[in-house]
Amino acid sequence: MAQATFHFPRGFLWGTATAAYQVEGNNINSNWWAWEQKPGRILNGDKSGLACDWWGGRWREDLDRAAETGQNAHRFSVEWGRIQPAPDRWDEEALDRYREILRGLGERGLTPMVTLHHFSDPLWLTEKGGWENEAVVGYFETFVRKVVEALKEYVTLWVTLNEPNVYAANGYINGKFPPGEHDLGAAFRVMVNQVRGHAAAYHAIHKLQPHARVGMAVMYRGFSPARSWLPLDSLAASMLSRQFNDFFPRAITDGVARLPFSSQRIPEAKSTQDYLGLNYYTSEKVALSLDSRQAFTKRFFPEGSQLSHTDFIANIPTGMFQAIKWGLRFKVPIIITENGVEDPDDRLRPRYLAEHLHQVWRAVNFNYPVKGYFHWTLVDNFEWERGWSQRFGLWELDPETQARRKRPSADLYAEICRENGISSEMVARYAPEIFDKMFPN
Ligand code: FCB
Repeated sequence: MAQATFHFPRGFLWGTATAAYQVEGNNINSNWWAWEQKPGRILNGDKSGLACDWWGGRWREDLDRAAETGQNAHRFSVEWGRIQPAPDRWDEEALDRYREILRGLGERGLTPMVTLHHFSDPLWLTEKGGWENEAVVGYFETFVRKVVEALKEYVTLWVTLNEPNVYAANGYINGKFPPGEHDLGAAFRVMVNQVRGHAAAYHAIHKLQPHARVGMAVMYRGFSPARSWLPLDSLAASMLSRQFNDFFPRAITDGVARLPFSSQRIPEAKSTQDYLGLNYYTSEKVALSLDSRQAFTKRFFPEGSQLSHTDFIANIPTGMFQAIKWGLRFKVPIIITENGVEDPDDRLRPRYLAEHLHQVWRAVNFNYPVKGYFHWTLVDNFEWERGWSQRFGLWELDPETQARRKRPSADLYAEICRENGISSEMVARYAPEIFDKMFPN
């Protein structure tokens, strides 16, 4: 039997990622809370409720779990509507709570990465038109300045916006997220404001903390032509990739927002990315179609792929390598800010984890500058419009009783973090079905 260990560079960040709205509970000043109250918006009428009760203090036990299982970093987000419940009001106690969480991270040896905006908006912002209104740029900058002043003692690694591409697509094109619109023009306005908001935040953070490292976390989805011999499919796949994957990192590299029919110069956004945050989950095939509601494309998972519990994710680890390779063009270090799979029974996760990390390792061995990996996620949490139907946690959560139970993948991830690598012996124990593929004789 082949024996080997795939090692990662010294100082590699190993963590999990979470988001405020999904774990804190009772985020009543958020647009998502209002959205949950509307019938038909969340699958099965699920409610976030107490979520993982982090605001009630259970962040302590969960971060204990993270630290005890060898992780050395954690990515979490702060909730805007909690910190600034009204445009002219700051909740200092909420900021104190985040400072306490950050001290908690420090005590546990976890390097913090803080996301300033992870999908949810304060209700008052929504009432003013949300990210469609260009005034959001100033509001966001003010908020960011306040947060960074309060937390900069503990944090140097910042994510301005999480997945602005998903935010715009789900909120303004397919309508799955609030405000539930189907309006391309609105989506493009939002995207431009997100680039501006990011740029304003970037400069504000650097002014307060010159040594900060600031970036955004972009969702990269692999798109390849369904029929590689058909030029129209190739065109559809590359158009999608340009709009969905490239738009944000390109705009904050060269200061140009490239929309399908026009380009806009945003000079202040130029070179406002100290690292690229990469969220990679899955890849799709793309075919041209006559359906205008789907932007004239049909997307589907490659035939025969292994699918997650609710068919949300296909296990396509090579897409991770492609994502990293794609990311090189922005010429900054790369951090995998999210990757994971929904899998209540932990059947696919061990293999998904090992195979995706194998691809990250391959990239690192080409000397591609990947600096860390944050698994989504630590404990099952409230998955947006999919409610509690999807279980991404290394730990299982019963939202009723708040009981946690460790899944086998948590042990696998612990061994990987401690070893700073993946060994053939780990794969033989946790995912024997892929042993020959990963360690061919
Ligand atoms: C990403 C989100 C994250 C979580 C995972 C499953 O798109 O950033 O909040 O929902 O998907």
